[in-house]
Amino acid sequence: MPKALSRLLIGALVGLVVLGVIVFFVGNAWFGLPVGAQGPEQPIAFPHTVHAGSVESGGLGLDCTFCHRNVDKGAAATVPSVQQCMFCHSKVTGEGSTSPTALAEITKLRTAAEQGEPISWVRVHRLPDHVQFVHDVHIRYLMESPDVIVNSTPAIRQDGTVDAAQTCSTCHGQVATMAKVKQVRALKMGDCVDCHRANNAPTDCAACHY
Ligand code: HEC
Ligand code: HEC
Ligand code: HEC
Ligand code: HEC
Ligand code: HEC
Repeated sequence: MPKALSRLLIGALVGLVVLGVIVFFVGNAWFGLPVGAQGPEQPIAFPHTVHAGSVESGGLGLDCTFCHRNVDKGAAATVPSVQQCMFCHSKVTGEGSTSPTALAEITKLRTAAEQGEPISWVRVHRLPDHVQFVHDVHIRYLMESPDVIVNSTPAIRQDGTVDAAQTCSTCHGQVATMAKVKQVRALKMGDCVDCHRANNAPTDCAACHY
C-alpha cells in the first residue's frame, strides 16, 4: 500500500475515534441519565421519611426549608449542621424506639456532636465544576408558577402561589418518601435547556457556564 494512502487511512481512523469520543461526551451531557438506581450509602442512615414524611404517614412532617435553610436565599440549599440536629437529638436518643436502627444511628450523631466533628454527607446531586446552578431563582420562579411544578400536586395558596417546599419535587422527586435520597431527574444540559426554553429563561452558554 502506498505510504500516502495508509497515512490517509490512519488519519481517517483517528478522526473517527475522536469524533466518537466527542459524540459520546456531548450526548452524555445532553441526554445522560443519573447512574445507579439507588442513592449512595451515607455515614449516618438519615431517613427523610421519618423527618420530612407527612404526619399521616408516621413522619414528623418537618418542612424542607427547616433543614435546607438557604434554599430560597442563595445558590446552595445547604445541609444542616450537627448542632441543628442536636436541637432534637440531645433528647431524642433512639432508646426504646420502635425502629431497630434508631439507637445505633442516632448514637453516631451524638458521638459526632460530643467530639465536635462535622458529618461528611456524600453528595447525591453534583454538577460538574464548569456549570453554575442557583437554587433561589428557581424556587422563587416555581413558587409563582405552580403549573410548572412536576412530580407532585402542590397545595396552592389563596394568592395563587405555593410554599418553597412545594417546589423541590420538580427536580428532586418525592424526597419525603425516600429512606435514602437518590437522584430521579437527569439534570443534564438538555434537561436544563429544555426547561429554560419553555419558561423564557436564558439559554446562552454564559448563563450556566463559568
Ligand atoms: C431534619 C432535617 C431535614 C429535613 C426536614 C429535610 N432534609 Fe433533605 N437532607 C438532610 C440531610 C442531613 C441530608 C444529607 C444526607 C442525605 O443525603 O440523606 C439531606 C439531603 C437532601 C438531598 C440530597 C442532597 C445532595 O447531596 O444532592 C435533597 C435533594 C434533599 N435533602 C431534599 C429535601 C427535601 C425536598 C425535603 C422536604 C421534603 C428535605 N430534604 C427535608 C436533612 C433534612
Ligand atoms: C425536630 C426534631 C428533629 C430534628 C431537627 C432532627 N431529628 Fe432525627 N429524629 C427525630 C425523631 C423524633 C426521630 C424518631 C426517633 C425514634 O424512632 O425514637 C428521629 C430519628 C432519627 C434517626 C433514626 C432513624 C431510624 O429509625 O433509624 C436518625 C439517624 C436521625 N434522626 C438523624 C438526624 C440527623 C442527622 C438530623 C440533622 C440533620 C436530625 N435527625 C434532625 C427528630 C429530629
Ligand atoms: C430546578 C431544579 C431544582 C429545584 C427546583 C431544586 N433543586 Fe436542589 N439541586 C438541584 C441541582 C441541579 C443540584 C446540584 C447542584 C450542584 O451540584 O451545584 C441540587 C442540589 C441540592 C442539594 C445539595 C447541594 C446543596 O445545594 O446544598 C440539596 C440539599 C437540595 N438540592 C435541596 C433542595 C430543596 C430542599 C429544594 C426545594 C426547596 C430544591 N433542592 C429544589 C436542582 C434543583
Ligand atoms: C423547572 C424548569 C427549570 C429547570 C429544570 C432548570 N431551570 Fe434554570 N431557570 C429556570 C427559570 C424559569 C429561570 C429564570 C428564573 C427567573 O429569572 O425568574 C432559571 C434561571 C437559571 C439561572 C440564572 C440565570 C440568570 O442569568 O439569571 C441559572 C444559572 C440556571 N437557571 C441554571 C440551570 C441549570 C444548570 C439547570 C440544570 C441542572 C437548570 N437551570 C434547570 C427554569 C429551570
Ligand atoms: C440551562 C443551563 C445550560 C446552558 C444554557 C448551557 N449548558 Fe452546557 N451544560 C449544562 C450542564 C448542566 C452540563 C453538565 C452535564 C453533565 O452533568 O454532564 C453541561 C455540560 C456542557 C459541556 C460539557 C460536556 C461534558 O460531557 O462534559 C459542554 C462542552 C457544554 N455544556 C457546552 C455548552 C455550550 C456551548 C452552550 C451554549 C450553546 C451551553 N453549554 C449552554 C448546562 C447548560
